[in-house]
Amino acid sequence: MQPLMIGSVALPHRAVFGPMAGFTDEPCRRLMAQHGAGYTVSEMVSSRALVYQDHKTIKLLKAEPNGAPYGVQLFGEVPEIMGQAAAAIEEYPFDFLDINMGCPAPKIVSGGAGSKLMLDPDLCGRIVEQVKAHTSRPVTVKMRKGWDADHVTAMECARACEQAGAAAIAVHARTREQMYTPGIDPEIIARVKEAVKVPVIGNGDIRSAEDAVEMVRRTGCDGVMIARAALGDPWLFERVNAALEGREAPPAPNLQARMNALRRQVEEMVQLKGEYTAMPQARAQAIHYMKGLRGAAELRRVCCQLEYLSDIDRLIETVFEQQRRAAEEEPPREIPFP
Ligand SMILES: Cc1cc2nc3c(=O)[nH]c(=O)nc-3n(C[C@H](O)[C@H](O)[C@H](O)COP(=O)(O)O)c2cc1C
Repeated sequence: MQPLMIGSVALPHRAVFGPMAGFTDEPCRRLMAQHGAGYTVSEMVSSRALVYQDHKTIKLLKAEPNGAPYGVQLFGEVPEIMGQAAAAIEEYPFDFLDINMGCPAPKIVSGGAGSKLMLDPDLCGRIVEQVKAHTSRPVTVKMRKGWDADHVTAMECARACEQAGAAAIAVHARTREQMYTPGIDPEIIARVKEAVKVPVIGNGDIRSAEDAVEMVRRTGCDGVMIARAALGDPWLFERVNAALEGREAPPAPNLQARMNALRRQVEEMVQLKGEYTAMPQARAQAIHYMKGLRGAAELRRVCCQLEYLSDIDRLIETVFEQQRRAAEEEPPREIPFP
């Protein structure tokens, strides 16, 4: 199988890790890359903040090579400011620039950015054009199906972005109005795929290797993007890549491996940001590692109380204790994971 190309950048695998503000920091991206994510993307960063040299924002971009191409995601609605932001980070080490045309959050769309751009295909094109003019890297776009049921604009927006020079287009197959539910509309990905020649990456609700294979089969997309389901389960990339590449499914990780990954991820978060900033974020990450475990409700409660790095060790002890206790109380069964 030929590698998927994003402009001149070759991806090691076709399942990529979707950006998630508040989650996809450097330790999280490294973990996913180590398990086979075809690329990773920064948390979204404000084009205005980059132009005004906001140091907190610039810290979000920090990246160490982790074996997979790394994209920085910009948001904004003014083509010239988006271009200036691209120029401002030209010296930083990253592989491609991604433009956010999908964020549904009120504070982003009220300013005209994120998924609000889906109402104006011409503006989408002008943004890509300006960013392209100010960066030496390939420019990608992440969009939604459209704004709402009356404005399904992904095809027009994708065409405008391609014409302006976008190297790939990821489509989350829901409108802004749908936020994150209900189920996705794979048909829109198939239609975008027909509308453009650049690679199209299908996104939305991929939780298993079977979901990924089905997404490719139904839409003809060139790659798949996984976001939420990979949290706490980086092995999902190994399973999906094996299925897409026609290899045998890898063995499932045991509980110790899962807890080791959690411990290492939180340790790296604390090293990077300090306990005060890292631990509230670690609570949200840790909860995802509890998927499918016995006593998950109680374990989630313990996750919510994480305050210091050492609390992670207590959480892990509780995880093993709960599994032992539950195993004594009920006949043995396979732990479904995730
Ligand atoms: C908490 C959270 C934060 C997100 N932040 C971003 C973001 O910063 N940029 C972006 O393009 N998409 C963002 N997304 C959307 C995801 O990348 C993805 O498109 C969406 O979750 C659907 O894919 P999934 O079903 O695999 O999770 C976010 C999603 C979640 C749940």
